[in-house]
Amino acid sequence: MSAFNQKKIGILGGGQLGKMLLQKAMDFDLNVYVLDPDTTAPCKYITPNFVKGDFKDFDDVYHFGKKMDLLTIEIENVNIDALKKLQQEGKEIYPSPEIIELIQDKGLQKIFYQKNGIPTADFFLVENKQQIEKYLDYLPFFQKIRRGGYDGKGVRKITNKQHLDNAFDSPSVLERMVDVDKEISVIVARNASGEMACFPAVESVFNPQAHLVDYLVCPASISQKTIEQAEQIAKRIAEQLQLVGVLAVEYFFTKDGKLLVNEMAPRVHNSGHHTIEACVTSQFEQHWRAILNFPLGDTSLIRPAVMVNLLGSEGFEGNAFYVGIENILKYSGVYPHLYGKKQVKAFRKMGHITITDKTLMAALKKAKKIKEMIQVTAL
Ligand SMILES: Nc1ncnc2c1ncn2[C@@H]1O[C@H](COP(=O)(O)OP(=O)(O)O)[C@@H](O)[C@H]1O
Ligand SMILES: [Mg+2]
Repeated sequence: MSAFNQKKIGILGGGQLGKMLLQKAMDFDLNVYVLDPDTTAPCKYITPNFVKGDFKDFDDVYHFGKKMDLLTIEIENVNIDALKKLQQEGKEIYPSPEIIELIQDKGLQKIFYQKNGIPTADFFLVENKQQIEKYLDYLPFFQKIRRGGYDGKGVRKITNKQHLDNAFDSPSVLERMVDVDKEISVIVARNASGEMACFPAVESVFNPQAHLVDYLVCPASISQKTIEQAEQIAKRIAEQLQLVGVLAVEYFFTKDGKLLVNEMAPRVHNSGHHTIEACVTSQFEQHWRAILNFPLGDTSLIRPAVMVNLLGSEGFEGNAFYVGIENILKYSGVYPHLYGKKQVKAFRKMGHITITDKTLMAALKKAKKIKEMIQVTAL
């Protein structure tokens, strides 16, 4: 058993979430290694412990993991067989390979909710496009490919028969369309001793074109009762899964006042970025605390916050160039996080900006201005 700061900790994935985990790891003097196939990934330039390798590949994950004491993830699309073998050989893996396996498949996720009495939208599972025809009586619905979708890329809205031409021809979940009033999310953390803590609920506002979060606000404008209900559900899931680490749970709050779980991710999450500046403890610190079995940190909100994703502007592709950064820095309570991705593409997540103020109204007003002042284009 080695001291916590001598443990070799491996992160599968070297994107922006890995980068923000590394930033916090430095404060705790952690000994962290990163595996990613892309030598221009955000983590590449900030650690000497960057290992080039594919987190989806059995051999790459196994050989990387063999040298570690503890493994964690910043992306769920990783090789499960290698993680299971490493776990059998005594490595600590948080979240467990079984949890990651469940999350990789939206169909298994839905079955999990159903089995455990977690409220979720009605659904059917289909193997291919042809089978969708059996369910035409249930239109409108969302078709979600079971594996590999993210940021709206594996999701199609099917409201009439004509839309079937566009449907994915792969195993998928057909989910009844929900009359969504708000989309909210709660990040829960659990350590190995079973201690749990939730971050304050956030509300996501989506870009209708790209199905990507345009901005999110904290606190969410929902009743205290609904917030408590969301926290209870998140804790029930974490306990049921025997999770160690953080888990982001996304919910639909329906127009008739119901809370339904949409999906979850057992890792630090886009909807928790504001916690860096707006909460006593950030989600990144909380993840380290949880997987090292330290006491969890205080999740209280210090001040209201709005988080704006910095997406690549439409029509630009090439070396990323940030227009207007010097203008936004004139405002107080504005925190840009540029991920360091070299190449910009339309709608690619290039960074985020957290905007805080004394009231949520003031933060929102400032955020709308900031959003118009900054753009990621190509040189
Ligand atoms: N059943 C549904 N009813 C209404 N809107 C939905 C439904 N399912 C998904 N959506 C919309 O599509 C978005 C993306 O779906 P989601 O399942 O979260 O996929 P992703 O994994 O790409 O985030 C949701 O955030 C929501 O805006
Ligand atoms: Mg989602």
